[in-house]
Amino acid sequence: MTITVVGHGYVGLVSACVFADSGNKVWVIGHTPEKLQRLKNGDPIIYEPGLAEMLKKNLKAGRLLFTDSYEESIAKSSIVFITVGTPPKKDGSADLTAVYKVAESVAKNLGDKFTVVSCKSTVPVGTNLEVGKILHKYKSKKATIAVASCPEFLREGSAISDTVVPDRVVLGSNDKNAIKLLLELHATFPGKRVVTNLPSAELIKYASNSMLATKISFANLISFYCEQTGADVEMVLDAVGMDKRIGRTFMYAGVGYGGSCFPKDVQALTDTGKNLNIDVSLLESVEKINHRARKLFVDKVLKHIKGKSVAIWGLAFKPDTDDIRFAPSIYVVQRLLKEGFSIKAYDAAAMSNVRKLISDPKLILVDEPYSALDGADALLVLTEWNEFKTLDASKVKKILKSPILFDGRNIYDPQKMRADGFTYFGIGRN
Ligand code: UDX
Repeated sequence: MTITVVGHGYVGLVSACVFADSGNKVWVIGHTPEKLQRLKNGDPIIYEPGLAEMLKKNLKAGRLLFTDSYEESIAKSSIVFITVGTPPKKDGSADLTAVYKVAESVAKNLGDKFTVVSCKSTVPVGTNLEVGKILHKYKSKKATIAVASCPEFLREGSAISDTVVPDRVVLGSNDKNAIKLLLELHATFPGKRVVTNLPSAELIKYASNSMLATKISFANLISFYCEQTGADVEMVLDAVGMDKRIGRTFMYAGVGYGGSCFPKDVQALTDTGKNLNIDVSLLESVEKINHRARKLFVDKVLKHIKGKSVAIWGLAFKPDTDDIRFAPSIYVVQRLLKEGFSIKAYDAAAMSNVRKLISDPKLILVDEPYSALDGADALLVLTEWNEFKTLDASKVKKILKSPILFDGRNIYDPQKMRADGFTYFGIGRN
């Protein structure tokens, strides 16, 4: 099948590579010449394990073609996926300007064969109906189209396996032929098929991400109780999660969630709810608790250390990515800098992104974890990269000015850390 993917961010590029890898011819439309050139050269631009190899393999096989031209690709494609960004506006609602602009360009370049246009960008309920209206307004008379919603559920760091081996494939459309084509395109992937209407497909994505964010904020809320009562959040949540109806996955307390999805999607669902006159206080609390988690972490640091110098391990919003969008680390770094701290920080992938965002000379980025400890009054761990999990306690203690450890992801055993001579602060652990 020949398809087009408009946009080459996480969703677009990963989907394009995976569809090409299963034998389809995939056009990818972008608008920045420099980025398109890098992609054509096999550089995926984003950091994602396995993506560079898959990109190169499919470029070489001639199944993956990058272009800035709608004219070249749309008329030849059976399916067009819109995967451009939907960033949050100041009021929390999703900015759909790029989606609508792309829909117009797609419409103007449709050929005379049946084409399915499907949003993979996370878009509020009702957006695909608007996309349909735009397509009908700008398309030629001979073009026949159907609109579909085909949300993705990939996680950064495991984006390829999430796409190739999905838990479910959600296909929303009122058009039987569109569903048929989409089922055919996804035929090689396992996982349950959920065939539904447009608004259900759109809502499934927001409901899934908001549910996951809610689980995390619930874990953090319980950690606030633990901090004040002597309970241990890991014990509490282990036992809570043993109830099969609840489960333990994705219920870990820490400095809170970040990334390009949860913060934005919880806000956008809140905004949609407000427009529909729905009481959205549950979602508002999820967001509030998430901010509170990172705030309390810094409060604790300020309360317990004497000097004004810290080491930070981990800046990415989670391991195996260089992404720092809405990362808790950014709040922690900025607040400590404001308080007059000097910071030495290390991250396995995200340092160049942090440098682009924060140019303060009091933030020094170092190229290996132990160099960050030099002269620091405490070590703060904000991302659970594997390389931090086996910490060389005697080396850390030797380099740090005082052996204080703030574990923002509960990756260490408090008893062991204390036995090793650390003053240890976890999240919701005593
Ligand atoms: C998420 C969804 O998981 C994915 O299905 C969707 O398509 C996009 O959004 P992603 O943003 O890549 O994926 O990251 P994810 O692994 O879900 O983690 C999000 C954040 O939650 C991270 O900051 C992580 O550290 C945090 N988290 C996760 C917790 O704080 N506790 C947990 O128990 C799990």
